[in-house]
Amino acid sequence: MIKLEDRIQISMRPVIHPGYNIDSDIEILWQLLKERRPSESISHTEMPTYEDHTRFVLNRPYLRWYFIVHNNEPVGAAYITHEDAFKQHYVGVAVFKNQRRKGYASMAIDYLKWEAEQIGISLVANINPANKKSIALFKQAGFNIIQHSYKFNV
Ligand SMILES: CC(C)(COP(=O)(O)OP(=O)(O)OC[C@H]1O[C@@H](n2cnc3c(N)ncnc32)[C@H](O)[C@@H]1OP(=O)(O)O)[C@@H](O)C(=O)NCCC(=O)NCCS
Repeated sequence: MIKLEDRIQISMRPVIHPGYNIDSDIEILWQLLKERRPSESISHTEMPTYEDHTRFVLNRPYLRWYFIVHNNEPVGAAYITHEDAFKQHYVGVAVFKNQRRKGYASMAIDYLKWEAEQIGISLVANINPANKKSIALFKQAGFNIIQHSYKFNV
């Protein structure tokens, strides 16, 4: 007998989508942000103010930005950035602490990879070297290491 893979089903719901409450979207993203530790981030190490966060979200900063939804409940979020000066698109994903290790991030990345293929773009994940979980996640998702970056802080 063939055992069918019994992965949980997720859906990807665009952030700030007609029919959904904008304030509640902003709040969910804020809660996700609050769970972020410095070692999990490259560019943002400090919490913004709620006003800055709201402005950021309302600016629609990403090419694609989704809530990862399971049973009608947002369990995390994932995005693809707009093309930068080097013609790169970056990908990011975060899952609420109490929802981790259930395969949500990996399914969300599968979806973003599919979407990137449809648009015809490559995806780059910039990962803090201390973020072992994320390194494992992206390696498992088929991403290959392309560079080590070193920063001189002033
Ligand atoms: C990294 C993160 C997104 C993983 O989300 P998740 O939904 O728990 O991940 P998944 O359940 O889909 O795990 C997929 C793979 O990622 C790796 N992984 C995830 N959590 C891990 C952990 N705690 N330790 C080691 N590997 C881990 C594993 O390879 C795992 O595959 P496996 O379960 O077959 O071993 C989540 O821990 C998170 O939100 N962290 C904070 C934000 C962040 O660091 N984002 C990444 C920056 S882009």
